[in-house]
Amino acid sequence: MDTSGYDLLQTAVLLLDESFHVGYANTAAEELLGSSRRQMVGQDAHTFLAKVPSALKSALEDEPWAWLIEIPAHQVQRLDDLQQARSDRAAQREILRNLAHEVRNPLAGLRAAAQLLEMELPRDDLREYTQVIVAEADRLANLVDRLASPSSSPVKVVTQVVNVHEVCEHVLALVGLEFGKDLALVRDYDASVPDLRLDRDGLLQALLNVVRNGAQALMEAPSRHAPTLTLRTRILHRPLLVGKQPRMGILIAVADNGPGVPDALKDKLFHPLVTGRAKGTGLGLSLAQECLQAMGGLLEYDSEPGHTEFRLLLPLEAA
Ligand SMILES: Nc1ncnc2c1ncn2[C@@H]1O[C@H](COP(=O)(O)OP(=O)(O)O)[C@@H](O)[C@H]1O
Ligand SMILES: [Mg+2]
Repeated sequence: MDTSGYDLLQTAVLLLDESFHVGYANTAAEELLGSSRRQMVGQDAHTFLAKVPSALKSALEDEPWAWLIEIPAHQVQRLDDLQQARSDRAAQREILRNLAHEVRNPLAGLRAAAQLLEMELPRDDLREYTQVIVAEADRLANLVDRLASPSSSPVKVVTQVVNVHEVCEHVLALVGLEFGKDLALVRDYDASVPDLRLDRDGLLQALLNVVRNGAQALMEAPSRHAPTLTLRTRILHRPLLVGKQPRMGILIAVADNGPGVPDALKDKLFHPLVTGRAKGTGLGLSLAQECLQAMGGLLEYDSEPGHTEFRLLLPLEAA
């Protein structure tokens, strides 16, 4: 196999054998991982991949290589950056805690007002709306509690058996109410996806944040195409997650045909308080990433104008 072409790529590429040992690394990979090709060849690739937030893995038929690993340029973070990010996080948590504190009281007022309103409603069918307010206020209160919690592991994980598609449907119902009929919602579900044991609130929060972003991007930018948001679920074999390699995983992909993530945000999209919207908080994706990582999962994305896809990856453990 002629590998010289790989050296021209911006994307870091590793070729691995059956047992996941490095056989080849291109120049971009040397640069990114801070090791020379010669140092890497023969080593277990997990050592290097533990340093990067995410990577794509494809099976190869091309002997002697079994796997091709790509680490897309915009997801690239040197180890130093990760360390820096860790220390930034302490400062960020402080800001979030203050914000959570500010949100708590008005939220309680909102909930109480919705309940009073519900008692005055002339028709039962209108209750659907006040119930959405109450349920969402409760969820937000929960979220605020998570943000305000002082511990270094901010997300309290309560696991239960969860039907992934039920969570997807819940999110689509909320987004349908919020964004109305102009937004086409497409389901591409793999019915063989099994129930998972995980933190349902965390997954719901992560998925809602990602889906809502997609819907916002679609509805805010005029486009030639009908705004369409697609939810796809799949079983993954050997998904590449940070640190460990479960045998199986679940993918929930959220695709939209909107304008795409602004170039200026691409490198830091998952940092808190990074937003491209005038009224944005920039908390949605950072929180989604945090929720998924607390479950041993990962959030990653690819984006170009007309096609943006966020992928929620979860390890599959027998429920
Ligand atoms: N599907 C998407 N299409 C285009 N841009 C997106 C998409 N999802 C996220 N973004 C960009 O990422 C930014 C950060 O998102 P997020 O962390 O949820 O914060 P917020 O929604 O409050 O701005 C958004 O402001 C937007 O610019
Ligand atoms: Mg958002």
